[in-house]
Amino acid sequence: MIEEIKRIEQESREEFASAVGYEELEQLRIKYLGKRGIFASFLKRIGALDSELRPAAGKAVNDAKITVASFFEEAKLRIESSAGAKSSATFFDYTLPSYPFPKGFLHPCTRVMDEILDIFMEMGFEVELGPEVELEYYNFEALNTPKDHPARDLQDTFYISGDVLLRTQTSPVQVRVMETIDPPVQMVSPGVTYRRDAADMTHLPMFSQVEGLMVDRGVTFGHLKGILAEFVRQMFGEGRRTRFRPHYFPFTEPSAEMDISCGVCGGKGCRACKGIGWLEILGCGMVHPHVLELVHYDTEEFTGFAFGIGVERIAMLKYNIDDIRLFFENDLRFLKQF
Ligand code: DAH
Repeated sequence: MIEEIKRIEQESREEFASAVGYEELEQLRIKYLGKRGIFASFLKRIGALDSELRPAAGKAVNDAKITVASFFEEAKLRIESSAGAKSSATFFDYTLPSYPFPKGFLHPCTRVMDEILDIFMEMGFEVELGPEVELEYYNFEALNTPKDHPARDLQDTFYISGDVLLRTQTSPVQVRVMETIDPPVQMVSPGVTYRRDAADMTHLPMFSQVEGLMVDRGVTFGHLKGILAEFVRQMFGEGRRTRFRPHYFPFTEPSAEMDISCGVCGGKGCRACKGIGWLEILGCGMVHPHVLELVHYDTEEFTGFAFGIGVERIAMLKYNIDDIRLFFENDLRFLKQF
């Protein structure tokens, strides 16, 4: 039997060496190495041999299989590198057009975020980033919101440990920036913020904001109104009116919320604006002197304004979307509309 194996090994060498094309090669592989191939049948026959002959015969079959497998590999390389590679089964036409792969697109909130930043950058604001995992000090204390301040209730948050939390607002970036540079400052800061809120039509535990801050000599509420009115004009187009309502934020004084006239009814009052004619779009105000003092800015010399814009809120108003959760359900039928 061992001689027979040797003879077959020799025969296979010639057959593999003269094989033309992948099809023939595959036939030979099946013939010799396949599940029902020649070597498989040898293995079956070994069972019938005398027990003292079996080990040597088994070894001979396995050695031959390895050798024949190497003939196969050699032949494959030869065919691949020869003209045989251009046989119809393997010829690849590089000039064919590619699949019509669907192109991705930016999420509507990402686009709105980019638009907001573009508008402010064009007006001279620098983009600054801050950490999402923030110290309590920057998120609250440095923004004039001490531990016992009732405003903390409105921004219940996720604590990581002791004084480390997920920021509830992008406002702490104001402080971080002012700590590192002397006035004048003119920056916007985009980013994700977190609150311990249950999801509903207008709330999510994670959302995005763009913070704005401008500090210089002689900065007034007039500058704030001018900058934000221009922002609204570029974001929502001509013809939207704006108004400022007195409000309260711990880190600004005076504070305001800015509304724009409803784009659906033009200000007369409809379902979209709950009959008011106005839609709230952001919070803003003049930076509280105490915030400036904490970063050692001279409050006799410098004043500033700040604002915080909710990105999803702007996207909802821009595209007339009434449920914030739609943005994050990842339903392509919704997302493809933008
Ligand atoms: N941080 C505020 C919030 O999340 C928004 C805000 C209001 C930011 C007034 C400001 C500001 O910079 O001046 O509710």
